[in-house]
Amino acid sequence: MGRERIVTGDQVAPDEDLTQYSLRPSSLSEYIGQKELCEKLEVVLEAARGRGEPVEHLLLYGPPGLGKTTLAHIVAREMGTKIISTSGPALQRAGDLMGILTNLNEGDILFIDEIHRLSSVIEEFIYPAMEDFKVDFVVDKGAFAKVINVPLKRFSFIGATTRAGMLSAPLRDRFGLYYHIDFYPPEDLEEIVLRSSGLLDIQIDREAAGIVASRSRGTPRIANRLLRRVRDYAAVKADGKVTAATAAAALEIEGIDSVGLDDLDRKLLETIIKYYNGGPVGIDALGATLNEEVDTLVDMVEPFLLKIGFIQRTRRGRVVSQEAAKHMGLKLLDNGSQGKLF
Ligand code: ADE
Repeated sequence: MGRERIVTGDQVAPDEDLTQYSLRPSSLSEYIGQKELCEKLEVVLEAARGRGEPVEHLLLYGPPGLGKTTLAHIVAREMGTKIISTSGPALQRAGDLMGILTNLNEGDILFIDEIHRLSSVIEEFIYPAMEDFKVDFVVDKGAFAKVINVPLKRFSFIGATTRAGMLSAPLRDRFGLYYHIDFYPPEDLEEIVLRSSGLLDIQIDREAAGIVASRSRGTPRIANRLLRRVRDYAAVKADGKVTAATAAAALEIEGIDSVGLDDLDRKLLETIIKYYNGGPVGIDALGATLNEEVDTLVDMVEPFLLKIGFIQRTRRGRVVSQEAAKHMGLKLLDNGSQGKLF
């Protein structure tokens, strides 16, 4: 999706994915942050284990890089079951899913990432699978069409999405559990950076970890990515030890500013301020001006800017705040429309 940015939560190169994987906590006890969510999940898992039943279908919703896939793997591990992972765009035809579903055993977990991108055909195919553990598979066409009813084992479905609003109500309603993952506060990210440093054998002090944490846009995947850049810089420019000064210098070179914004974030803010008088501006117009996919802006760029109050979403489009303009060192013309919620 879009071009590669160091601070997206998006997954990038496969080799980097491997490193991410080794840094992933594999149990709830290792998981840092999202306390409320983890506590609720712990109860649900223990209760399901006590009853000897599969866990209810679970929907995880939140920006990329916050741990939705990690949590799905943790659920599988804590339940002692297998997990089969795929994603919405990868499932094109009902037949693709048919094979996966019929191979699931009792209690297995089917994890589908980006479920807001499931085609409507697949979505409708999934309803009876989720509700009654059966699928209606149509064979042949026209006058010869036959519906074959295939029973399935009782599995658990975990869906992940960055856009809960894009899910159809019938799909959303079929999940028994619905958890939102929010951005992590800097204290939690600091602990994550220290934990990852331990696993990667990086010598880092708490202050330096705090700097990486505070520039990671509330996102563990970004924190781990920045940590590796900082490690490289320390190896080449210092004696391998990561101090606050090396961390700050390394992130500066990467174009990451004091609050964690990168070139694309700043370009977006600058465009709204300079070309659209601070807004409101529609997301399609912004995408065209910035030459970026609208999905990239909506999934990767906007959520954190909204979270820190640098932009607001109004019915007439996006508006930047005075704070954002100040951060950018730009002046916001007072055209009377900024900040008002239409
Ligand atoms: N690595 C990435 N996310 C993490 C988390 N929430 N807890 C511990 N380690 C992590």
